[in-house]
Amino acid sequence: MGWHEKATGFVPTMGALHEGHASLIRLAKSQSELVVASILVNPTQFNDTRDFETYPRTLEGDVAKAQAAGADAVFAPSADALYGGKPEAAPVHWGPLTHAYEGARRPGHFDGVVAVVELLFRAVKPSFAVFGEKDLQQVGVIEKLATERHPGLRIVVAPLVREPSGLAMSSRNARLSAQGTNSALALHQALWAVQHAAKDGEVSKAVQAQREALTTNLAVTLEYLDVLDARTFTPWNGGQEARPYVVVAAEVEGVRLIDNMPLMA
Ligand code: PAJ
Repeated sequence: MGWHEKATGFVPTMGALHEGHASLIRLAKSQSELVVASILVNPTQFNDTRDFETYPRTLEGDVAKAQAAGADAVFAPSADALYGGKPEAAPVHWGPLTHAYEGARRPGHFDGVVAVVELLFRAVKPSFAVFGEKDLQQVGVIEKLATERHPGLRIVVAPLVREPSGLAMSSRNARLSAQGTNSALALHQALWAVQHAAKDGEVSKAVQAQREALTTNLAVTLEYLDVLDARTFTPWNGGQEARPYVVVAAEVEGVRLIDNMPLMA
């Protein structure tokens, strides 16, 4: 018969690729013959112009990294070309999933993520797409998007990759000074302390203590530290069905960082 369609694994990114992205590409490659990675700093998901403007753009190095990790093709359209005109995003209302936590702190952020991921899915037509648990709430939003609008498209979730120091890898880490990188360690340490306390049933006490530690840490501006149900992004109430995660968002040297850990390791 000769010609058969190959399964295509898809890894959308905004570039400035690091080992976290590479791990997603390797995971995709382990599950399909063809892997497409995309690179686009998507304007519609940035609620902060300065963040958009200073987002690292390193296309040439990224293509080499994507290829080394196993990508067969890199799709790097301009925003105007992908959107077919001025980039715009329709509002998405999926309750706390799009409007609590990151959705509350970054109004319109998930509208932009949904808009660009939909356009990318339509352009690439993948069999499955890989997303990292680093962006835990994004995973929930994308799973909802797939269920609602792309039945048959499998969403694969990849584990969060950390630096040896414990710092969650992020393209934005490149903007931190050596001192800032060191200060940022306080985030995963707070998550770890809460996870550790869960073993003794001391979650709320530990959340209180870690919020206080981050609030009094002069190098850190805390936005939230909470234990929530990753299925809904509502606060965890101890229910058996829940997927409790401890999540944190904070600024260090003006750079916004997020991190998370499952409550039960
Ligand atoms: P970006 O931040 O470049 O991340 C691309 C993918 O890599 C996401 O699925 C993200 O969760 C994953 N990733 C980032 N850091 C990681 C880490 N330390 N460990 C594991 N995975 C990690 O997320 C986006 O881009 C955009 O919102 C996008 C989905 C591309 C839409 O524009």
